[in-house]
Amino acid sequence: MSREFAYTFGALDGISVEGSVVSADGWVVGLEENVDDIVLEYDGQPIPTKKIGFEEASADVQHAYPGLRYTDRCRFRLQGKLPETPIKTNEGKLVAVIPLVERQRGIPLERIVPIRLTVPHHEQSLMVGLGDFVETSFSMLALLRLVGGLHRNARILEPGCGLGRIAFAIAHYLDRNGCYYGFDVSRDAIRVAQSIFPEESNMSFQHADLYNKMYNEGGAVRARDFLFPFDDGYFDTVILTSVFTHMLPIDVRHFLTEISRVLVAGGICFCTFFAFDELAKDNLSTGKATLNIVHPFADGCFVLNRSVPENAVAYDMQTLQAMIAESGLHIEKVYWGQWSGHNTFLTYQDVFLLRKL
Ligand SMILES: C[S@@+](CC[C@H](N)C(=O)[O-])C[C@H]1O[C@@H](n2cnc3c(N)ncnc32)[C@H](O)[C@@H]1O
Repeated sequence: MSREFAYTFGALDGISVEGSVVSADGWVVGLEENVDDIVLEYDGQPIPTKKIGFEEASADVQHAYPGLRYTDRCRFRLQGKLPETPIKTNEGKLVAVIPLVERQRGIPLERIVPIRLTVPHHEQSLMVGLGDFVETSFSMLALLRLVGGLHRNARILEPGCGLGRIAFAIAHYLDRNGCYYGFDVSRDAIRVAQSIFPEESNMSFQHADLYNKMYNEGGAVRARDFLFPFDDGYFDTVILTSVFTHMLPIDVRHFLTEISRVLVAGGICFCTFFAFDELAKDNLSTGKATLNIVHPFADGCFVLNRSVPENAVAYDMQTLQAMIAESGLHIEKVYWGQWSGHNTFLTYQDVFLLRKL
């Protein structure tokens, strides 16, 4: 059976368009076979590209990802030439580095150029996790486009949007017909988000004062009682990255039902979980998983930290399947994450692509 794409993993350090010259540098490895070629695309079209550097070693990547193969030949530096000098036409254009593995496309490394919004400072971005804010944002956009089919005029809801890390790339990508609504239980995160996106008329961020022991201990309403303030079938895309991994079963069940309600038929929910498949169970039992989420919390639900269960929450696959089916959503695909020891992954957590029936 042919595969959708080759599993590759990497990051862009920089990308720029000056006149007719596109420059991109970063690193990428194959997770099975290694990357043997690379192409640069501008606005969806391949452009003539010179490899200034390719397959060079990278001590910093080797240090940061000791478990990855091929880091001794992962760095690239590319220079592409646009067909004609763009005059203001690079506004909002997608530049993509496409790794190739035996001619099959890998996971693109993408940016919209130019980046026009202000990047939050490092201490602020720590609220939503480690890692480079812009790189994480655009790598999630690449996955949303690749596996979720996200288009420029999507109608997007993001529960647990934090300070807008995923929204940042989305704001650069959406056109005027698209819209985005984010809500989060953290008042501070929403304040930061509102300061990053002051002029974006199609991007809205709201505080929802819901209880979460880790993120909003004084929350007035329980997540299981919260009705999303949107009409039935209003959205075509719902995104939750690293949110269900901080929510308890009754609340997850209720959020899935609300997501199903606000999605149009055929709409998708791109969300992440820590889910136990057989490999995760084996690796947890032998200490090979990267997170020791082993404390039983409820039927089919396990936590890392008993005193603050929302710190990291994992689910048995059968429990998740039942909750998702009850909500009227259908699991279209699961992409297992790196956290539990899978060798091929899109990202650290398990990515679930759910579709409204
Ligand atoms: C690790 S952060 C991820 C933020 C964002 N999704 C991202 O990927 O950058 C988890 C977020 O989920 C939010 N959260 C937790 N429980 C929530 C709930 N029931 N409803 C909405 N947001 C919630 C937290 O406040 C926090 O901002």
